[in-house]
Amino acid sequence: MQVKITTQQPADITTPALVALCFKDKVRDDSAVKAVDPALSGAISRLVQSGEIKGKAGEVTVIHTLGKVKPERMVIGGMGKETEFTPDTIRRSVAAACKALINKGVKELAVVLPEASTGGLEPALLAQLATEGAILGSWSFKKYFTGENQPSGIESLTLAAGSFSTAEVQKGIDKGMVMAEAANMARDLVNEPGNYMTPLDMAAAAEQVARDNSLEITVLDKDKMEEMGMRAVLAVAQGSANPPRFIIMKYKGTASSSVDLALVGKAVTFDSGGISIKPSEKMENMKTDMAGGASVIAAIQAIARLKLAINVVALVAAVENLPSGTAQRPGDVVKSMSGKTIEVISTDAEGRMTLADVLTYAVNLGAERIIDIATLTGACVVALGEVATGAFTNNQELVEMVKKAGDDAGEYMWQMPMYDEYREQYKSDVADMKNVGGREAGAVTAALFLSEYAGSKPWVHLDIAGTSETSRDRGYWKKGGTGVPVRTLINLATRLAESS
Ligand code: BES
Ligand code: MN
Ligand code: ZN
Repeated sequence: MQVKITTQQPADITTPALVALCFKDKVRDDSAVKAVDPALSGAISRLVQSGEIKGKAGEVTVIHTLGKVKPERMVIGGMGKETEFTPDTIRRSVAAACKALINKGVKELAVVLPEASTGGLEPALLAQLATEGAILGSWSFKKYFTGENQPSGIESLTLAAGSFSTAEVQKGIDKGMVMAEAANMARDLVNEPGNYMTPLDMAAAAEQVARDNSLEITVLDKDKMEEMGMRAVLAVAQGSANPPRFIIMKYKGTASSSVDLALVGKAVTFDSGGISIKPSEKMENMKTDMAGGASVIAAIQAIARLKLAINVVALVAAVENLPSGTAQRPGDVVKSMSGKTIEVISTDAEGRMTLADVLTYAVNLGAERIIDIATLTGACVVALGEVATGAFTNNQELVEMVKKAGDDAGEYMWQMPMYDEYREQYKSDVADMKNVGGREAGAVTAALFLSEYAGSKPWVHLDIAGTSETSRDRGYWKKGGTGVPVRTLINLATRLAESS
């Protein structure tokens, strides 16, 4: 999507659709509405009076202007009650307007940036939010449809800057484009079917990102992983004919050799459960079990595009979890890269096994902070649904930063407990730990299992099993991948870079 700026007055903007964002019961106070309504003989006022336009959150009203002003359509986008305004309100209302226009076959729109008073937001942030809303809200995944008549997205967005500094608005546009495009990239990867997103495909996608953004990348094959002792990863991979890959991407934003942030992403390109096979109903959703890996590849891409002053490493062990004559079995004992042994109770608790070795790798790299992102447990979905990501940590300060970064991105994070008492649940009779801690507190025991490999530096685990995809259209999200928590990770890296 192309994003431009205009300083023209609303009634003078030549566009198929001009969007005014209005608070509930304040539609007539909006300056763009005031500017256009008289030329439309008070059409908007009458719709407000009759109650057809209220300005409710998500409400979109399209009015044809019949040549009376330059915009062909006037679009009133409701933002809901002013007292309930959050930055996400802007993303959502712009996304709603885009969706409505896409359905009408409109490919270009202009959005009047709401007044500076809106939530007290800076012009750059307003522009960023509007840009994000448009790019996130017009995303769709239609790669595998062969017919014509596919609804195509928005090609061009113009922001009407009014009296705002165009330099500030441009800054916001640049940032919003990077953030939303990164999230959409993760959504594209997550929506790929398992046969087109094997571990090799995942590595190819990472290599493409590295090439396009001058990132250093190393992709290790099975032999190399064996040499390094990544036996827990390989145990999961051994049932599949698709060989595993270990992807290491590096972004250097400072002169120092420190690794300021390691992003570890779970990437099980398809999780059948292995010998502990999953029920067939909804098994197709397990093509998205690489969402964590997709999110860290997308995040490091954005971090590079924004040229943040921070050194970041993205680590992804891509594997496929299938049952076969070579698959690992329940009861197997596996010696992880750290040296700790794992008794495999369920081959379906494969994510924590792959992450164990990658966390060890991150610790050995000397990473100052580690964030892992994983579609780890169904238990987390039971606890928090599709709305909030489960956050677990050994460091309160870091998790507070992550939560704030998430709130600002509109990607909610909810902290879960990490009491030592839960560790009892994964004690094994034959090895250092079992890979399953029973049904109770399943998301917590999985996180505690990971903590055994995360070392002593600040670490946060994000369980995105519920949030990485949505089962229905919601706000700027469409059924399918959400790109969560890509924008959170970018916010976090931005703040870490600024605070160092
Ligand atoms: N990838 C799944 C978790 C998952 C479930 C993600 C639902 C998205 C939606 C993970 O590998 C898994 O199978 N976890 C098991 C763990 C259990 C065997 C301890 C689970 O949650 O059932
Ligand atoms: Mn599983
Ligand atoms: Zn899994």
